[in-house]
Amino acid sequence: MLAGKRDGGGGGAPGSCCLLLLLLVTGPLYTSAFRRLRDELPTLLPLNTLEGQDNQEHFMTTLTSTQQHTTGPKTPVPTTPIEVSQEMSAEEPGPDTPLPRSVRPLHYLVRLQPFLNGNFSVHGFVEVELVAVGEVEDGHSAPTITHFTGHSGVHTFTAHLTKPLNPGRRYRYSMNFYSNLKNTDKGFYSVKYKDEDGGERSLAITKFPPSYARRAFPCFDEPHLKATFDIQLARENNMTSVSLMPLVDTSPLEGQEGWVVDSFLTTPHIPTHSLAFAVSSLAPARNTSLSGLPITVWARQGVLQHTTFLQEFTPRFLTFFEQYFNVSYPLTKLDVVIVPGNETQAISSPGLIVIYQEAAGMYDASSSTSSHKQHVAEVLAHEVSHQWLGNLVTPKTWSHIWLYEGLASYLDNVAVSSVESSWSLNNDQVKDLQKALHKDSLSSSFPLYMPALNSEDIVDFLLNLVFQKGSSVVRMLRHCLSEKTFRTGLTNFIQRQ
Ligand SMILES: *[C@@H]1O[C@H](CO)[C@@H](O)[C@H](O)[C@H]1NC(C)=O
Ligand SMILES: *[C@@H]1O[C@H](CO)[C@@H](O)[C@H](O)[C@H]1NC(C)=O
Ligand SMILES: *[C@@H]1O[C@H](CO)[C@@H](O)[C@H](O)[C@H]1NC(C)=O
Ligand SMILES: *[C@@H]1O[C@H](CO)[C@@H](O)[C@H](O)[C@H]1NC(C)=O
Ligand SMILES: *[C@@H]1O[C@H](CO)[C@@H](O)[C@H](O)[C@H]1NC(C)=O
Repeated sequence: MLAGKRDGGGGGAPGSCCLLLLLLVTGPLYTSAFRRLRDELPTLLPLNTLEGQDNQEHFMTTLTSTQQHTTGPKTPVPTTPIEVSQEMSAEEPGPDTPLPRSVRPLHYLVRLQPFLNGNFSVHGFVEVELVAVGEVEDGHSAPTITHFTGHSGVHTFTAHLTKPLNPGRRYRYSMNFYSNLKNTDKGFYSVKYKDEDGGERSLAITKFPPSYARRAFPCFDEPHLKATFDIQLARENNMTSVSLMPLVDTSPLEGQEGWVVDSFLTTPHIPTHSLAFAVSSLAPARNTSLSGLPITVWARQGVLQHTTFLQEFTPRFLTFFEQYFNVSYPLTKLDVVIVPGNETQAISSPGLIVIYQEAAGMYDASSSTSSHKQHVAEVLAHEVSHQWLGNLVTPKTWSHIWLYEGLASYLDNVAVSSVESSWSLNNDQVKDLQKALHKDSLSSSFPLYMPALNSEDIVDFLLNLVFQKGSSVVRMLRHCLSEKTFRTGLTNFIQRQ
């Protein structure tokens, strides 16, 4: 998360004189970034110096004031090197202290170059447009950055400024950073697998919810801090990349033989945890929905023939939910990436569903059981429903997550029963209820609504209870309200996002 955060330490008025960026201090990104920073002191540069985009090898930070979205006045900024220190303040806020409200992100440009066939490092560049909010101050020039500090416990990185930012004014902050794809299964990371010829391959994939986007790049990683994103992924030209939005441009990466940069259309306003992308050698299978929407399923070449079920059911579920919610699918494409891995998880980002367990995306008519087929259908229906519940409408804080997971868990059964009525999935809902009652009887149980659910607890919360208990409560609601009222309520909820 890249965050504007007020200075926790003694001096200065609250909300002033510092720009706090969140990135994961304990993760590889942070440590390598800081190592790099000490090696080579960052320099403050006016914006135009960075626009050549040839600064991959340097760790530089700029802060410029801009009135325009794209072309700000080129405020002269001193170019003296600045000290970087990693200090731990005694008054350091806890891990879930909300970010200060003194700046708000508007737009990000994120460029990542993962060395998948090399040392697994990532060269990253992030540029974020911010707007300052708060008390009105005089003065028009952009402040300069005096020094940086990092707070390991709270995943923050602070740029200390010479003077406060002007409320209502836009600023652009940019930095290069290094990270690593290896030894993690969160953020932006690599997955190793064997291809059909037995050769070892690696792909790079994201897993951002609830709070791992900050491992991939510095950002404001709170669910309510939505922004638009331009994603650029550099890849070797024998691989492919995919992100939320359609690809708009592929250009050679200057000075790097065999490399190209894929640029994707600007995303809608989304929280950082909704971003997703992949760089891989997976093979695509393409289909279109009834309304002509391109749908692509990505998997290892060797198992692509077992994705026909997904190729057929993704468009069917999409059509089902468009009709059920009476709200059109909001984007212009949908990709489903099946990671050759074993983690029982799937994440639905706008326009891109990632299934992290290969088996959960595969159906082989000659050897799979019918209960497996049903499982594949439910996982897919659940994720497709999140294109509306969770992507089109997003919770402001994690406290409301039960509603989205509960609704999606209830509706995946409804969708599967509707497109495959012979499966009598109502029995499954009774099983869910029993599981929920059992888990709820343990002392580890959570209430569904957790007013102060923090990003560390959210994972336990999701794993433990929210799916079954949430869907059981939603099912009761549906039966109290009647199908008609329940659906009208859902449609209103989604349309008023
Ligand atoms: C793509 O090219 C790189 C660099 O030449 C090579 O290391 C890698 O094995 C290739 N990948 C595939 C899938 O052919
Ligand atoms: C990783 O490899 C790239 C490309 O060869 C190189 O530019 C970069 O410095 C390497 N990173 C590390 C940490 O060795
Ligand atoms: C493509 O999608 C349609 C539904 O829109 C489905 O009926 C058809 O079977 C799918 N084709 C393949 C090859 O899966
Ligand atoms: C919503 O419902 C109306 C009335 O039934 C229908 O005309 C319209 O096409 C529906 N829209 C969507 C997106 O399904
Ligand atoms: C997943 O786990 C199963 C059983 O442990 C194993 O047979 C399979 O090869 C694993 N798949 C992948 C892609 O790692």
